Amino acid sequence: MTSVLRLQAPAKLNLYLRVIGRRPDGYHELETLFERIDLADLLTFAPQASGITLACDDLSAVPGTAQAGPGLSCGEDNLVTRAAHLLRRACGVTQGAAIHLTKRIPIAAGLGGGSSDAATTLVGLNQLWNTRRSVSQLCELAAQVGSDVPFFLHQHPFAIGRGRGERCELLPGPLPTLWHVVVTPPVHLSTPEIYAGFDEHKSVLTDVPPSITMTVHALRNGPALAGLAKGLYNDLEPAAIRRCPVIGDIRALLLEGACQGALTSGSGPSVFGLCQDRSHAEQVAHAIRRRGASAWAVHIVRTEAGGVTSGVGEGDDDAR
Ligand code: C5P
Repeated sequence: MTSVLRLQAPAKLNLYLRVIGRRPDGYHELETLFERIDLADLLTFAPQASGITLACDDLSAVPGTAQAGPGLSCGEDNLVTRAAHLLRRACGVTQGAAIHLTKRIPIAAGLGGGSSDAATTLVGLNQLWNTRRSVSQLCELAAQVGSDVPFFLHQHPFAIGRGRGERCELLPGPLPTLWHVVVTPPVHLSTPEIYAGFDEHKSVLTDVPPSITMTVHALRNGPALAGLAKGLYNDLEPAAIRRCPVIGDIRALLLEGACQGALTSGSGPSVFGLCQDRSHAEQVAHAIRRRGASAWAVHIVRTEAGGVTSGVGEGDDDAR
C-alpha cells in the first residue's frame, strides 16, 4: 500500500508589524505579532522513486474574476519545490516525492500562503523520507526559503517574529480565539515595493506606534477586544494604501461594520477586521459581500490553535 500524507497549511495575519530599520543585506529588521488562522491550503505527499513533482489546483480565486497577480506557478519557483529541494540536498535523500497542492489561501495577499506551503512541505517530507530533522534544524532551512516560513513550522497560534521575521518567540497560553473577516481585493502588490514605499516616506510618519508589549498584553486580556484593537498596527499599511487605495476603502467598510479594529496584513493587499464572535463576523462578511466589489475574496476565519499541520512538535525534539 502506498502511504500518502495529507497536511493542511494554515494562513497567518500580522496583528502588529513595526519596521525597526533597514539592514545592510537589504532586508528590514521587524517586530511582528503573527496569528495562525484556519484558512488553509491542502498538501499531499506521496513517495516516488526519484524527482520532485508538484501538481496544483487553484481554488483561491473568486469565481468569474481574472487573477490580478502572477497566479499560481507549479514550477521550480514555487516555494514548495524550493523547500523540497533544500531538504533533499541537506539530508542527502535520493528518493523523490509527488506533491499535490490545493490552493485556498489567496495568492501573494499578505496571508503567508506560499510560506506556509513551504513550511508544511518541510514537515511532510521530513516525515515521508524519515529524515528526522528537529524543528530547529527545519527552521534553519525554512529561513532560507523566506522570512515568514519558520513561524509556520510551529503548531502555535501566536508568536512574535523578530529579525527578518524568522526568529520566533511562541506566546504561551492561555490565549483567546479571535474571529476575523479577511477581505482580499484582486490586486497584486510587490512586497519589495511596499518596503521601498515605507523607506521613502518613513521620515513623514508622525504617529507614535503602540509597543508590541502593549499589543501582546491586550491579547492576553482576552475577550475585551477594544484594547487589542488599539494595539493593531502595521508600518507597511500606509505604503500599501498609497499603492492600492481600495485597501483604505475596505478598512473603512470593516470599521463601518462595527469591527473593533481593522488592519492590512503584512504587505497587503488583504485587510482583516477584528470581530466579537462568529455571528458578528458572519454579519460583517454579509455586509461586505453586499456593499463591496464582487471580485473581493471575503473569508470568515478564526485563530487556529494547533493541530492543522500535523507532525511537528516544539523545541529541539525530532520534528516528526
Ligand atoms: O523573505 P521573503 O522572501 O519573504 O521577502 C520578500 C521580500 O520582502 C524581500 O526580498 C525584501 O525585499 C522584503 N523584506 C524585507 N524585510 C523583511 C522581509 C521581507 O525587506 N524583513
